[in-house]
Amino acid sequence: MRKLVVASQFVIVSLMANSAYAETNEEPMKIREIMQGMQVNMQQIEQGIAQKDWELVSQNSLLIAEHPAPPLFEKLRIFAYINTEMGAFKKLDKKTHTTVKELAELVLQNDKGNVELKFTQLRESCEQCHQVFREEFQAYFYE
Ligand code: HEC
Repeated sequence: MRKLVVASQFVIVSLMANSAYAETNEEPMKIREIMQGMQVNMQQIEQGIAQKDWELVSQNSLLIAEHPAPPLFEKLRIFAYINTEMGAFKKLDKKTHTTVKELAELVLQNDKGNVELKFTQLRESCEQCHQVFREEFQAYFYE
């Protein structure tokens, strides 16, 4: 019962957050800044692989693995929007996190041969989520 109450409170807060802001055309959301940061990390990893600078690869993998989350209020808006697709969204997010940790692990284990393949898989994991969610997300929050 308690669980149910907490869950319904969460839904109400999310809906409020959502309706308060869904209509407004405002500043880019934090999630975009976080994404842009990860894009830079990806470029650094690519450069690191090309130059065999494993320190650079490992640092930037960890930065992606531990990327900041949007602030709570924005998170609630995003969750309210994603709603029934939450399972799929979380799964894709988890895939990126798992893959980037595996990449960092390969570098630590000195398994350089597999680093490139893992990096390709990482890029694919980013793209998978973009294919499913990005366009509609941007249309919903920005247009
Ligand atoms: C679970 C879903 C998900 C995953 C995984 C994901 N993204 Fe995104 N990404 C989004 C969404 C949603 C947007 C749209 C955000 C916005 O425009 O505010 C986005 C937008 C972007 C953008 C465009 C930002 C802009 O300026 O318009 C870049 C770049 C980006 N992501 C990079 C990455 C990289 C690199 C990875 C993998 C390391 C990644 N993303 C993984 C969901 C995801």
